[in-house]
Amino acid sequence: MAKTKSAYFCQSCGYESPKWLGQCPSCKQWNTFVEEVVDKGSSRVPEWRSSTTAGSPKRTNKAAVIHEIVYSEEKRILTPDHEFNRVLGGGIVPGSLVLIGGEPGIGKSTLMLQLALSIPQVKTLYISGEESEQQIKMRAERLNQSSKANCFILTETSTQNIFKQIESVQPDVIVIDSIQTLHSSQIESAPGSVSQVKECTAELLRFAKESDTPVLIVGHITKDGAIAGPKVLEHMVDTVLQFEGDRHHVYRILRAVKNRFGSSSELGIYEMQGNGLREVSNPSEIMLSQREESMSGVAIASMLEGIRPLMIEVQALVSPSAYGTPQRSSTGFDTKRLHMLLAVLEKRFGFRLGTQDVFLNITGGLRVEDPAIDLAVIAALISSQQDIPLPGTSAFAGEVGLSGEIRAVNRVEQRIAEAEKLGFDGIFISKYNLKGIDPKKYNIAIRPVANLEDVFRSLF
Ligand code: TYD
Ligand code: MG
Repeated sequence: MAKTKSAYFCQSCGYESPKWLGQCPSCKQWNTFVEEVVDKGSSRVPEWRSSTTAGSPKRTNKAAVIHEIVYSEEKRILTPDHEFNRVLGGGIVPGSLVLIGGEPGIGKSTLMLQLALSIPQVKTLYISGEESEQQIKMRAERLNQSSKANCFILTETSTQNIFKQIESVQPDVIVIDSIQTLHSSQIESAPGSVSQVKECTAELLRFAKESDTPVLIVGHITKDGAIAGPKVLEHMVDTVLQFEGDRHHVYRILRAVKNRFGSSSELGIYEMQGNGLREVSNPSEIMLSQREESMSGVAIASMLEGIRPLMIEVQALVSPSAYGTPQRSSTGFDTKRLHMLLAVLEKRFGFRLGTQDVFLNITGGLRVEDPAIDLAVIAALISSQQDIPLPGTSAFAGEVGLSGEIRAVNRVEQRIAEAEKLGFDGIFISKYNLKGIDPKKYNIAIRPVANLEDVFRSLF
């Protein structure tokens, strides 16, 4: 009988150790090691090679002088979904491995099936380990796209069988839903365990690179937002996309977290409807809640998400605290940064916020990291504290420094243009952003400010 070999794997980062350890030497987490059976025979052949006889690998492994390498503009596969193309940096790159992570029920399977069904003139293979053929067909019917001729469906979880089917179908794009359901016969541990996820991904990676076929992998995420399974998974793939949003709301955001072939700050917005996901091509309009009259505590920021400008509504509520320790809570904005801005207001401008509860909310379920939102956050906070509504026709774009100075932000022209397009009368920007801007070019009043005092003077 062959001797089975086992090893211990850190469930957090995937570190492998021959013996059990209390603390992981790699990620320093405690109690994360679990024994998993790995059966690594010495005559190990890569899974997809052993089952595939198709052609020789397209990749050459000889060293080449750089100027001899012919670079042809990568032939990306364009999908009819413009949001998806943009998030990937302009379409699917042949031979790339893309991981799509997201909470259960957010719509990963819907997005992937929709994609598999809609790319014209491309043979797609949708492999599901989670649903039956009938269930997938039902979903396709719901999407009104059940008749595409060259979309193949496979319900299979063994990578060996998957590679056999890939060989006979010869698809141009492959979707795997989900990596946690796959298992490779090279390893004996259960599907979804760290060593299985790693091994299956490695096999898919080898296949993708050597056959030049793109593979899109769905991965579940755990409660704390990490993709279930080891962090190494994210290192192995070329692109990591996060599909996020509130399950009870209709809007979904597809965000590139890592992208070897494009910008990693790109963002796509979708609306979940009864018959699938629809692209939202003008997101600024949905981010601004419809209001008849202006209210205190609301300010509009002109943001950039990736290369796209986006008007975002910031809501703040500042009210006297009922308890000894005032609450500070923010949704969609870094709490540490909120504390910093509050400290600037308190120390530099004498606002008594130490005894007030402060709540901050970015509407639309977005998480904003662009520092240009600072100015809108401050304006919303003071507007709520003073109970004076801001003019609903003004937008803000500026970073606030520790001494209350307003700092310049990048690509301010684009932000101004977006505010102008949406009908705002004025936009507050840093004085230092004025260089190179011709205010007469715009049909919107540009209000340069050097520090917070200037802002307060003109608003309150
Ligand atoms: P699903 O793609 O199964 O999520 P995941 O694969 O990320 O777990 O999406 C499930 C949710 O989407 C489910 O609550 C039903 C809803 N849905 C729609 O609202 N419209 C649709 O057309 C489809 C197919 C699903
Ligand atoms: Mg699913």
